[in-house]
Amino acid sequence: MKVLVAGGTGYIGSHTVVELMEKGFDVVIVDNLSNSFPEVVDSITEITGKRPDFIELDLADTDSASEFFAQYKGIDAAIHFAAYKAVGESVEKPLIYYRNNIYSLINLMENMEKHGIRNLVFSSSCTVYGQPDELPVSEQSPIKPAWSPYGNTKQISEEIIRDVCNVSSLKAIALRYFNPIGAHPSALIGEYPIGIPNNLMPFITQTAIGKREVLSVFGDDYPTPDGTAIRDYIHVVDLAQAHVVAVERMFEDRGKENFEIFNLGTGNGFSVLEVIRSFEKVTGLKLNYKITGRRPGDIEKVFADTAFANQELGWKAIRGLDEMTLSAWNWELALKERKK
Ligand code: NAD
Ligand code: WQD
Repeated sequence: MKVLVAGGTGYIGSHTVVELMEKGFDVVIVDNLSNSFPEVVDSITEITGKRPDFIELDLADTDSASEFFAQYKGIDAAIHFAAYKAVGESVEKPLIYYRNNIYSLINLMENMEKHGIRNLVFSSSCTVYGQPDELPVSEQSPIKPAWSPYGNTKQISEEIIRDVCNVSSLKAIALRYFNPIGAHPSALIGEYPIGIPNNLMPFITQTAIGKREVLSVFGDDYPTPDGTAIRDYIHVVDLAQAHVVAVERMFEDRGKENFEIFNLGTGNGFSVLEVIRSFEKVTGLKLNYKITGRRPGDIEKVFADTAFANQELGWKAIRGLDEMTLSAWNWELALKERKK
């Protein structure tokens, strides 16, 4: 079976390509390299011993997308990672986010329909829940109005997919990720933020390696045990493996409905200080950090109810926080070596 991975040179996409190839799937990656590098294809080849097809392509460009699908045959399923993801930037530049994230989805789905490709896995986010009223948050928890255009693109995308599934033979699975961190154990692929990282884990590793002077911990006055905000961090390899399971579920026609939604988290919440302590423990380093004010838009606490994904997908995140922080650090060290 051949799987199209849109955004496959990116952070989560590249890990998913590795897991797919290790399970014997053929993979074609399309990516416009707006937030990743072509060398990722070499690293995937080094890990798996096989080179995936790679086509540089802007999926938000209608003509380029049609051209690709007209020429490239034999695709059985698509996994759609190709989107912009910086929450703060989306507030500053909403149209760029709506254009890229919505057009790329529409172009993909129109071409899938035209070429009879009936299986779609979509990267959604726990951001659709906002600050939930009850924890842990299940797939049935209400969707809160999005506070960022980025979050809104995920809500709108899910609605678009639902509407199309209602009137066609498309099967789709939206996976709502909680906070993916860490890197492949080979340290050949990982998260590569361009510019100053927005997310906690790369900011920690970049501070520890000396690229950043100090990590700001955004607020220690939340109503949590140590006052810092709580998230459900999930190892990117666990997350990637869930995509393989989702694709297999569709190929084997095991879905209960033609549009299904699953939370991908561990079910455990960790505070910012707990992540820092884990990092310090596994690396033996002392991290330079300071407590600053809250970051606008941040929620206090969120973690997943994983029961539905565990039961229905037969998948469970198995890697713990220390494995996540250590793999992130090994990746940062490997990046430094590469640049020498
Ligand atoms: P990433 O930026 O590393 O990967 C996205 C990839 O898509 C990049 O390689 C980028 O170059 C590519 N891309 C973007 N627009 C494109 C376009 N128009 N045409 C072709 N390629 C395009 O991000 P990631 O962390 O791997 O995230 C993957 C997906 O998961 C995104 O949809 C993101 O919104 C979603 N997600 C990420 C997180 C997270 O914390 N990383 C959490 C929830 C959901
Ligand atoms: C985690 C915690 C910060 C940086 C974002 C998106 C969400 C999803 C995942 C895509 C928070 C704190 C962070 C720093 C800090 N992405 N922090 N200092 O905000 O939970 O979620 O990524 O869908 O939509 O909003 O992740 O890694 O930015 O923050 O103290 O320098 O770390 O306040 O509590 P977040 P994050």
